Amino acid sequence: MKVNGKDMRTIWVDNDVVKIIDQRFLPHELKIISLDTLEDARSAIADMKVRGAPCIGATAMYGLAVAVRNDPSDTSIKTAYDTLNASRPTAVNLKWAIDECIGALDGVDETKRADVLFKLSAKNCDDDVQMCSNIGDFGKTLLDEIAKHKNGEVINILTHCNAGWVATVDWGTAISPIYKAFNAGMNVHVWVDETRPRSQGARLTAWELEQHGVPYTVITDNSGGHLMQHGLVDICLVGTDRTTATGDVCNKIGTYLKALAAFDNGVPFYVCAPSNSIDWDMSDGLKEIPIEVRSGEQEVGWIMGRDEDGIIRRVTTMPDPAKTRNDAFDVTPRKYITGLITERGITNASRAGLLQLFPEKAIS
Ligand code: MRU
Repeated sequence: MKVNGKDMRTIWVDNDVVKIIDQRFLPHELKIISLDTLEDARSAIADMKVRGAPCIGATAMYGLAVAVRNDPSDTSIKTAYDTLNASRPTAVNLKWAIDECIGALDGVDETKRADVLFKLSAKNCDDDVQMCSNIGDFGKTLLDEIAKHKNGEVINILTHCNAGWVATVDWGTAISPIYKAFNAGMNVHVWVDETRPRSQGARLTAWELEQHGVPYTVITDNSGGHLMQHGLVDICLVGTDRTTATGDVCNKIGTYLKALAAFDNGVPFYVCAPSNSIDWDMSDGLKEIPIEVRSGEQEVGWIMGRDEDGIIRRVTTMPDPAKTRNDAFDVTPRKYITGLITERGITNASRAGLLQLFPEKAIS
């Protein structure tokens, strides 16, 4: 997508150097940094310089490539795999990406390993862009249907966290259908959940939509249910960090509450799920998906923003010391999900639905 009118992706290679946008500084500063070592990649993921399941996967793949370029030995590959695998626990795209790398290295001579991984990473990024674009096209068909009943009135879409292009390589998952609809001239407006504690909605989704010119309004995390009760939400579109083979969805904390409100108010609730965020080995999201718990002291206790003088500051709103807790994700059981939008089409949130689209995953 465009930033200040210029095409950008979240991760790219420039003169053999891997570059990423350090998302911690958005929307106030567009800071670009290099990944030169395994530690750079680990810290990019763990410290959330990059975030969003597909973007984490792409960074992990390039991280392994960089580590192997620096040291192509079997020991180095094992260290890189274990280090990256431990960097964030919930998004399954990470493990998918590094498993792909290990598969591609099978039988490859040490001298050729880095080259294989850099090529694989570049292909993975292009594939990710295509998947997200397809999700956008399929998701737009739902918005087309809604438009038929709205006589040109605005279509209100609620989204949570950031599942836009900065969460992927390009296009995004949940925001991709919105970009496609907006580009086609449709009258869309996005309710952007602020998404505390790290404010991915207010900082990143709002920035992306602003850059692209899509109308949006940032709302507090507690507003969505109220807006749904008053007929102000036509559809919810969210992303996923891990979808079980049975259609349970793990996404940013607060997604579950939006799904409950949508269910109660008859608002369609769709999850945009690229296939590399589906965990075919899991069937019970609540019991099996590892939920990341981050520092409450750092992330709940403090908030960062720009003050009236334009200075970026961290401030706290709490008494010292206040107890905090910071579960970063929650699970939305499949019964609350109207459908899953994948790169192969839209299906219901169930094993049968997913297997219809991905028959090669059936266990014979
Ligand atoms: O903690 P984050 O910012 O990595 O969480 C991101 C989300 O929850 C996204 O909704 C999810 O990764 C889907 S991204 C296309």
